[in-house]
Amino acid sequence: MKAHLWWQYGSIYQIYPRSFADSNSDGIGDLPGILTRLDYLQDIGVDAIWISPIYPSPMADFGYDVADYTDIHPLFGSMADMQALLQACHARGIRVILDFVPNHTSSEHPWFVDSRASRTSAKRDWYLWRDAKPDGSPPNNWLSVFGGSAWTWDETTRQYYYHAFLKEQPDLNWRHPRVREHMYAAMRFWLEQGVDGFRVDVLWHLIKDEEWRDNPPNPDYLPGQVPYAALIPAYSTDQPEVQGIVQEMRAILDQYDERVLIGEIYLPIHRLVTYYGTAGDGAHLPFNFQLITLPWKAGQIAAAISEYEGALPAGAWPNWVLGNHDQPRIASRVGLPQARNAAILLLTLRGTPTLYYGDELGMRDAVIFPENIQDPQGKNIGVSRDPARTPMQWSAGSNAGFSEAPPWLPLGHDYEHCNVESQTGDRASMLTLYRRLIALRRTEPALSVGSYHPIFTEGEVLAYIREAEGQRWLVALNLSPRPALLPLDAIGSGQIVIANETRRETHRVQDRLILSGDDGVLVRLD
Ligand code: NOJ
Ligand code: CA
Repeated sequence: MKAHLWWQYGSIYQIYPRSFADSNSDGIGDLPGILTRLDYLQDIGVDAIWISPIYPSPMADFGYDVADYTDIHPLFGSMADMQALLQACHARGIRVILDFVPNHTSSEHPWFVDSRASRTSAKRDWYLWRDAKPDGSPPNNWLSVFGGSAWTWDETTRQYYYHAFLKEQPDLNWRHPRVREHMYAAMRFWLEQGVDGFRVDVLWHLIKDEEWRDNPPNPDYLPGQVPYAALIPAYSTDQPEVQGIVQEMRAILDQYDERVLIGEIYLPIHRLVTYYGTAGDGAHLPFNFQLITLPWKAGQIAAAISEYEGALPAGAWPNWVLGNHDQPRIASRVGLPQARNAAILLLTLRGTPTLYYGDELGMRDAVIFPENIQDPQGKNIGVSRDPARTPMQWSAGSNAGFSEAPPWLPLGHDYEHCNVESQTGDRASMLTLYRRLIALRRTEPALSVGSYHPIFTEGEVLAYIREAEGQRWLVALNLSPRPALLPLDAIGSGQIVIANETRRETHRVQDRLILSGDDGVLVRLD
């Protein structure tokens, strides 16, 4: 079998740094905090961490508004802390992936301060400035993801500027060669520091229609959906020209050893896969969010896996994601029993899995009182992402062992029984399930890099076989609370190695597999 790289056989763990571990008792997680928790990361067995933005930022969007691409926000630590973290991670064989936010800067970034100072500023066209329509209204109908028009009027220079997100996050003009130069220099800066790759924020947004045409209305829009969904972003996102930028980014990473380029892209499969490039020259891993966006139905998930497997260009490596800092947590979307099946799915599908911190405990969305909402998306359009960003639940102790100070977001109400300490050593816990799945993936090539064969099933059973080097594994997940049966005549017999109902482990199965409601099993086939 051909050799695979670390980002193909390994798993990635996303850390939202504000909420992982606080080292200096200000209630906000930081880099030295992460450093104190490397034993834990090594113990669960992840191969890489992706850290959400740690750059200087006014924090209008909690770091996704960058004011300096080549430094560390003092809240998170210093460059020395970053170097220490890189070294310590690498010493343990853990790679470090940084979040890179090229689509927009903070409105307080010196480039934008300069750009908005006057129409003749040398950096004026580093951003997207347009005249008002004759009636004074914005240049077109484009909407901000966070609500309202994507255009903000600047009284000083009497033009509008474009921002796909907050008005504090003006979009850069990626057609400008100087912008590219500077952003690529920032990427090189971190690669030289030793980071192992980037997760590139909203990669599909970078280039906008040169003619600024209006986006068409979305005929399927339903009241109650976010206002942004009222239009199809046909002209403001996913423009063909963006592929050239992806290639340029990739070419930069290729000058270094085994670095990984991950793209955050919310698009349908047939568009998503174009971000792999045409000749293996695009992103290594355009994030595949289907397990987040699809209903938890066996038929739909099975069809989506097959569609995705079929759509991958030659040589492209798949990947799967269950959750992130922008989405409700998996345990709150599908419930705790099914979150166990989700874990098995994530860690046994073909492709690189990305875990979201706390999901390995079955952390759930927390209740945040309206007066405590921090997230600008929550404040603006009522869809707060705070519930999925609460502090990591380390113990039942004060502030869940996250900090000695009251944390910046409230704790999940279940932290006293849902935490690392209480789940460690408990054979039936979510944490133990994650640990065992990751360990098994590491020893069984069939589960990490093996081939994928769907099994046709009826009802709510999702089943497939993974195979490599003569080893075959059956994964069978009952996505419903009702019992189900899977005939094994065409599959063969074997031994249950992991089961949600742990008492079934080591049992032999043949002829047919009985799955009680919500059960899921991993069977080593004979
Ligand atoms: C995607 C990030 O994941 C999200 O948190 C952020 O608000 C937007 N991009 C804007 O940067
Ligand atoms: Ca801190």
